[in-house]
Amino acid sequence: VRRSSRPGDDVAVNADGYLLANRQIEAGHRFEALASLFDPVSLGHARRLGFTTGWRCWEAGAGGPGLPDALAGIVGSSGRVLATDIDTRWLTGGDPLVQVHTSELGVDAPPSGPFDLVHARLVLVHLPQREAALRDLVGALRPGGVLLLEEADPGLQPLVCPDERGEEERLANRLKDGFRTLMRGRGVDLAFGRTLPRLLRAAGLHEVAADAYFPLTSPASGVLEAATVRQIRSQLVEQGLASDEEIDRHLDAVAAGRLDLATSPLVSCWGRTPE
Ligand SMILES: C[S@@+](CC[C@H](N)C(=O)[O-])C[C@H]1O[C@@H](n2cnc3c(N)ncnc32)[C@H](O)[C@@H]1O
Repeated sequence: VRRSSRPGDDVAVNADGYLLANRQIEAGHRFEALASLFDPVSLGHARRLGFTTGWRCWEAGAGGPGLPDALAGIVGSSGRVLATDIDTRWLTGGDPLVQVHTSELGVDAPPSGPFDLVHARLVLVHLPQREAALRDLVGALRPGGVLLLEEADPGLQPLVCPDERGEEERLANRLKDGFRTLMRGRGVDLAFGRTLPRLLRAAGLHEVAADAYFPLTSPASGVLEAATVRQIRSQLVEQGLASDEEIDRHLDAVAAGRLDLATSPLVSCWGRTPE
């Protein structure tokens, strides 16, 4: 069963239009950096919410193998980990316990559950069909099951170099601003993270709570920054948001480790379906 995708949607969600398309080699580096920066946060929340041996979980919009493999290591062979993505090329070759399916969240029929935990990180904000996606994520849970949604909120903390002490930091923050302009142009809601508690309550979940996390500096945020800037380079230049020379200067500063690079805050929000 396929619910129809709206033709003409210019919000980038598929492999061709998505601003940070998975087919580019940088996507692999971004997934590794995201895993290093945020998997401990996601796993910490999941554990605290009861995630343990034997649980069945759906990792939607999984991206790379890091988190699905870690989840499989916890649930063991008595549990289930299903990793879905619109583009699963980076998910192959991981833990054999992880089931990998290609499917478009909010468009394709959801997988058959029920699941004890459903998790999606940095996915929903890109989707024009967010409401249908959320309905499917919630609908796949068992009664009393846990939804953990995690989304960035660049509006809460917009700087990639909060310690703006010189020209290199100012340039970095200007390029980050250009990235946000590109995302806005693609219909991305830059204040989406903060709306999650309201959305989860409206979806009928109980015990809804949320927090936010971001690193102020970390080797992985340098990897993420370099991969992201390389991936959007041509669009920054084409839209007059940066010159090639500025981008090269910034990438040199990142590679030399001269910048303390933060990320946007990751808002983690969780709730349970009624028993
Ligand atoms: C920013 S990445 C995040 C990856 C991973 N969740 C993480 O946090 O490391 C977004 C992922 O969502 C996937 N994606 C985008 N639209 C999707 C959709 N409609 N259905 C399923 N996956 C989608 C992309 O292919 C990409 O792998």
